[in-house]
Amino acid sequence: PCSTHISQLPTEVLLRLFRYLSPEDLCRCGQVCSAWSNLTKTGSLWRHLYPVRWARGDYYNGPPDNLDHEPNEDWVRSLQEEGKAYQEWDEDADVDESDETCEESLAISTAQREKKLLNGMIHNLLPAVGSSVRSIVLAYSATVSSKMVRQILSLCPNLSHLDLTQTDVTDSAFDSWSSLGACHSLEHLDLSGCEKISDHTLKKLSLGLGDLVTPTGSEKRSDLRAKLLKSPPSPVSLLAEHFVSPKVKIYKERLSKLGSASRSPSQVWVLDASRLADIEDAAEWNQRGDLALTGGLSFVEMQPGALCCCSRSRRRTLRTGFSASYWQQHYGFGEALCGHATCCTGEKASNTFGGLHHGSIPAGSHVGGAEFRTKCSSEGQSCLEPDNRTDRSDARRRLRFLSLSGCYQVTDLGLRALSQRGGLPLLEHLNLSGCLLITEVGLQELVSACPALNDEHFYYCDNINGPHADTASGCQNLQCGFRACCRSGE
Ligand code: FES
Repeated sequence: PCSTHISQLPTEVLLRLFRYLSPEDLCRCGQVCSAWSNLTKTGSLWRHLYPVRWARGDYYNGPPDNLDHEPNEDWVRSLQEEGKAYQEWDEDADVDESDETCEESLAISTAQREKKLLNGMIHNLLPAVGSSVRSIVLAYSATVSSKMVRQILSLCPNLSHLDLTQTDVTDSAFDSWSSLGACHSLEHLDLSGCEKISDHTLKKLSLGLGDLVTPTGSEKRSDLRAKLLKSPPSPVSLLAEHFVSPKVKIYKERLSKLGSASRSPSQVWVLDASRLADIEDAAEWNQRGDLALTGGLSFVEMQPGALCCCSRSRRRTLRTGFSASYWQQHYGFGEALCGHATCCTGEKASNTFGGLHHGSIPAGSHVGGAEFRTKCSSEGQSCLEPDNRTDRSDARRRLRFLSLSGCYQVTDLGLRALSQRGGLPLLEHLNLSGCLLITEVGLQELVSACPALNDEHFYYCDNINGPHADTASGCQNLQCGFRACCRSGE
């Protein structure tokens, strides 16, 4: 009788069989031989990643839409307890493990398994399949760090669903989104409870989603870019006199009369809105010269002597127990930057564009260059999936879901960043519960750039008389003990 060994099966058949396997079994198969190792690193087998669940023995790997929207409360609580036990253990390296209760050591070993799994994924799997990954759910992870998220995001440029609920990530996690179109496929972003997130992340997000705005007038954006690259005019020429409105000239004169001449006048400008796209291009080139985003194009800056009018919010911040000195600490300005749209418009506000150096624009820079990835494994296993293309010129700003619930550092400036470059035309769900520093003006600005917003899924602080006040949902954090809310403790 003739027998057939499994290794004689055609690759397509083997791949089809692999589709029925859990991530754990796939990893085991990958250890059989180098041919199987290559095959298990086929992108279509790793579309949806749930490392936090997998570390706890739940090997679901379908799309996130099929999951319950509200995770089981007991499950969330046990994860939080595990995280707490792990952090305590991690903080005290000299801990005597013999003192740990059995429950604690189980929690710690689960968290350690999660960390190991994340590291393995980043170093062994994602370099091969990253461009095929569509969803990553890291909600309630106790071990994921900003560095890990940064690595994951730079390896997964076609991500459409990212859930970082209640993790400890900071703005630096999103550095790879600091270039135009870097997260062009993103549709769902959940940052609920990520308290360290600030406007910087929203700036990067807005840039990464791409730009829907095309220049008006006869000058095409590409022409402007070519001109900037070719001609000597240093980037300062962007700020040439003919771009400056009469209002700015008056403002400059006032500044010099007030004795502010020591401040280099070339750093203080109000930008003509129609020229902002060019400035953003230049900021992108600046980043390619390894300068941080904020070094190239900074946030709107309060001018010396311009008084901030956000005392109301500051009082509220104090009352709710959140750090009132956040602005001073974070921005280090004498008169703190409040971030409110009302405080940062008109003559008081300007963009500071001092970080750009002509020499930092690399020759031959291009924007929107299409990058095609066909390899599904480092060994050369080919996987010609059309979805694997990374075309950064495909700017659609597809974001449909955004939750910043409990991100209390976010201000109107972050909301403004999202409303720029064409806004968020597909956004349906927006949760800004617990964003204590935003105002009705910032909300209005964003909402006017989100035509698809569904009021039923639009949440913000009950104390703000903002847009759609009659139909929008209220703050979701009222009864929540662990997320920011101006009414916590009432
Ligand atoms: Fe104001 Fe929750 S943030 S009611």
